[in-house]
This record gives sequence, structure tokens and C-alpha cells, in this order.
Amino acid sequence: MRVLITGSTGLLGCALQNQAGADKQLYGIYYPARVLTKALRAAQRPADVTNTEDMRAVFAWAKPDVVIHAAAIGSVDFAEKNRAQTHAVNVGGTTVVAACCKDFGARLVYISSNAVFDGTRPLYSENDPVSPINYYGQLKVEAEQISATCGVPCAIVRPILLYGWPYPDERGNLVTTWVKALRGQQLQSVVDNVYSKPLPALACAAAVWEIVNRNCSGIYHIAGADHVSLHQFALAVAAAFELDHALIQAVPDSFFPQLAPRPRDTSFDTRKMERELGLQPVPLASGLRQMKADA
Ligand SMILES: NC(=O)c1ccc[n+]([C@@H]2O[C@H](COP(=O)([O-])OP(=O)(O)OC[C@H]3O[C@@H](n4cnc5c(N)ncnc54)[C@H](OP(=O)(O)O)[C@@H]3O)[C@@H](O)[C@H]2O)c1
Repeated sequence: MRVLITGSTGLLGCALQNQAGADKQLYGIYYPARVLTKALRAAQRPADVTNTEDMRAVFAWAKPDVVIHAAAIGSVDFAEKNRAQTHAVNVGGTTVVAACCKDFGARLVYISSNAVFDGTRPLYSENDPVSPINYYGQLKVEAEQISATCGVPCAIVRPILLYGWPYPDERGNLVTTWVKALRGQQLQSVVDNVYSKPLPALACAAAVWEIVNRNCSGIYHIAGADHVSLHQFALAVAAAFELDHALIQAVPDSFFPQLAPRPRDTSFDTRKMERELGLQPVPLASGLRQMKADA
């Protein structure tokens, strides 16, 4: 099976390459402004997802049976402040990728987000109505609609808060940020009234491959096992990496008024993932243990 991964240098893009079965022929694109400093499993080409000409050339090269569209601007705060640019990539890029899937006859797996929910009624199932409270979440809803109606079989994957080791020079995640700060003996203020079910990027990638292999369509919520506050998450990170938990201070989300609004608790009901994909959510302690071992 030939699979094209957009955002192949991203956290999930790298994890997808790591978790792909030997039966997959992988093709990836990365943003043209970057330089690849480390080998990746997929054959790679630079291409901007917002550029139709670039993307048609990529599809002609990769001839994908399936496209996993993971390229996006993923920073909620960047999205809030840079709306036109984020719209162009997260909605415009999805429009281009979806149109190419239709023209070249490829199935689409669109990587969405838990940010489609307002966080007031966890645990969210795939049947719950969307209700985003920030611009990033609004764009994910728009891009889901474009994907679902583009005329090819489509699965929409909503991962929750991802963690793992990123590709060199890619953006970090909460775990890498805390590990770096605690190793440097820096005090960390972490909110204790926002909750999630943190998800190892590798486990998310494994779920995406199940969706691809089982030819699934429709919406899938993917999350880890433990329902924790971000403060509890940070304490688990300190314990797993043997760092000083006394440096972690609990604060309410009002401590960070400059940030874009965050839903309080978008944690997922993972029963569909368990039932249809045959996967058990990964406990936080084992995901962090694995990450430490992979360092
Ligand atoms: N991380 C999370 O906690 C999380 C949670 C829920 C959903 N998601 C979603 O999951 C997907 C993957 O997330 P991630 O954390 O792996 O993202 P990431 O690490 O930020 O990577 C995003 C990737 O997209 C690429 N990209 C950005 N703009 C592009 C463009 N115009 N053309 C081509 N490539 C472009 C980036 O390339 P450069 O870096 O070279 O620019 C990078 O490879 C995203 O859709 C994100 O919204 C993430």
C-alpha cells in the first residue's frame, strides 16, 4: 500500500513513520523552508500544502492509495494571533489535499483535534456535537467538514494532547518542555484546573495505522488511559524522569491571561477506539517510561 504523509517532520508524522508496517510504501512532504537533518523512513519531498501545483506534483510522484493529512499549524496561541496564515494552512491546505485525493483517487485520513469541543461536558464521544472555543478549534471543524464531504472515503482522527520526542528543530510538547525546564532547575507553573488524557504520539500513530489497515471511515477519538490535570501530568513527568517535583507549582488557568482560551476538559470516551480498533488506551506511566527509554 502506498501512503502519503503530510507533515512528515511533525511529532505525529515521525511517529507514523516509526509505527508503519513493512507492507507500507511511505511518501512524505515537509515544509520547503526547512532542511532535513535526520533520516526519515518515508521518501521525502519539500512541498507547501497550500500550493496546489506543489501538491499535484507530489500526488503524481507518490501515487498514494491513502493520504494521512497531518500537516497543520498546531499552536493554539499562534493560530489565535495569526489568523490569516493559520486559515491558509489548516483550512486552505486541507482543501488542496482533499481535492488532490479526489482527483488522484486516494482515501483520506484527516488528523483533527480535541479542540473541536468546548471542554464543559467530558467524556466526549464521536457522536457529541462540536463546539470550539478558540480559532484553532474553529478551523479544525471547518477542515473536518471539507474532508468529510470531498467525495472520497474519509476517516477523521481526533488525537488528544500528544507527547513524545520531536524531530530536530520541530516544536516541543508539554513533556519535552517540562523535562528541559526541570533539568535546568527552573520553577514551572502548571495549571491544575485543565484536564486531559495525554496520549503518546507513538500510540496515536499505531491507532491511525489500524484505521488505515481496517479501511475505517468516520470519526475516531484517540486518547491515553489516565484522566489527569496538567499539574498531575507534570508531576508524573517529574517522577518518570526522576526530576524534582518541588519545582512544579499548581496554578489556575487564569494565571496565563495572555493565552488563547483553552477548553477545561475535552477528555475523550475511548470505547469506539477500543471496540473497533482493538486498542487499549496507554497508561501515562508506561507512555512516559517508554519515552525515557527512547531518549
Ligand atoms: N500535538 C498535539 O498535541 C495535537 C493534539 C491534537 C491534534 N493535533 C493535530 O495533529 C496533527 C499533527 O500534529 P503535530 O503535533 O505532529 O504537529 P507538528 O509537530 O507541529 O508538525 C506539523 C507539521 O506540519 C508541517 N507544516 C506546517 N505548515 C505546512 C505547510 N504549509 N506545508 C507543508 N507542511 C507544513 C510542519 O512542517 P515545519 O515544521 O517544517 O513547518 C510539521 O512537519 C496536526 O493537525 C495537529 O493539529 C496535535
